[in-house]
Amino acid sequence: MFSRVLVTGGCGFIGSNFVRFVLNARPDVTVTNVDVLSYSGNLENLRDVEDHPRYSFVRADICEAARMRELMHDVDAVVHFAAESHVDRSILDTSPFIRTNVLGTQTLLDAAVACKVDRFLHVSTDEVYGSLPLDKADMRFTEESAIRPNSPYAASKAASDMLVRAAHHTFGLNTSITRCSNNFGPHQFPEKVIPLFVTNLVEGKKVPLYGDGLNVRDWIHVEDHCEALLAVLERGRAGSVYNIGADNERSNLELTHALLTILGKGPEFIRHVEDRLGHDRRYAIDSSKIQNELGWTATRSQWPDALVSTVDWYVKNPDWWRRIKNGEYRYFHEKMYGNRANASPVTGKA
Ligand code: NAD
Ligand code: DAU
Repeated sequence: MFSRVLVTGGCGFIGSNFVRFVLNARPDVTVTNVDVLSYSGNLENLRDVEDHPRYSFVRADICEAARMRELMHDVDAVVHFAAESHVDRSILDTSPFIRTNVLGTQTLLDAAVACKVDRFLHVSTDEVYGSLPLDKADMRFTEESAIRPNSPYAASKAASDMLVRAAHHTFGLNTSITRCSNNFGPHQFPEKVIPLFVTNLVEGKKVPLYGDGLNVRDWIHVEDHCEALLAVLERGRAGSVYNIGADNERSNLELTHALLTILGKGPEFIRHVEDRLGHDRRYAIDSSKIQNELGWTATRSQWPDALVSTVDWYVKNPDWWRRIKNGEYRYFHEKMYGNRANASPVTGKA
């Protein structure tokens, strides 16, 4: 097993949940977290473990080659989360996505090969597979599905997946790639749909539902994702890809109504806005490979309970999200919507 793990992007949503999960689940593992603290990186996300004897934090950019080689000198394994992660931002400006997601991943792979790191786990996304039709419920993404990314974000993640594949094939690096569906849970940056809608409703504001609201996402609780990642890190086959999901497909309209019900609000709090450009219609994950090979299955993603406890976390932690919404998120919101109440998040047209 691995005793010294380097996590990239550990101050973000999933990375911070993973750092905490590993420290609790593996008493013999030391975690170094390298994060540049971009707009979505937040030291508050790991405040409870910052003095933990098996945890350390380094502020650095994954594109800095010499720094990454230094950090990989004495680690056994790398778990790579660091990324630009929001589809709408990738539509507004693609270049940071190419820099961090593509060049950053390549920089890490080069360092891992040079330092002979034993294991490299690349955290990717189901969005690399593109979109499924709404009227073919039996169709789901498998690890054999074609890579057909539709957004600049998904294209940058697909490119990084190909680089990981090549590092395994050409240099023999012991890699695995995971492709997970939409995560929810505590500490998610409130630009993503669930924390954005919950916090808007708590503030008495309307929620901006894109298009007809019939787009489907397959929701998994972040701790289920973390547990699956640990299973792949420890027991996944070299050169393999594993899909991760919890069989929990919901349309955005269904999700929105569930949130309105939990927070005691009516449908008048929905604001229909123009659709996201290139909006993928449906994601659905077939996770039978990880279930059969590694014996992992989701246990924490059951609705409505998991959604209710997530909403409860945001209700009880207003200081965490208010600081973000009054700070960094405001600039993004202004760029997305301008000052027109019904404007499109992307084109700015009312
Ligand atoms: P996030 O935006 O919350 O966190 C990203 C983290 O990466 C932040 O802490 C940020 O500071 C850091 N980072 C960004 N650029 C960096 C750089 N150049 N150098 C060092 N650190 C940098 O994202 P998230 O939702 O936690 O996603 C984490 C990973 O999981 C991403 O790779 C994403 O593609 C993948 N993923 C996310 C989901 C989801 O539903 N959120 C689902 C599947 C896969
Ligand atoms: O599937 C995994 C992916 O899930 C991850 O790779 C991404 O990092 C993560 O951001 C997420 O991508 P999505 O685009 O699916 O997530 P987002 O929360 O942005 O949107 C979810 C759905 O909600 C999508 O169909 C668009 C819709 N939406 C989103 C926002 C922000 C709205 O209707 N209104 C909104 O304001």
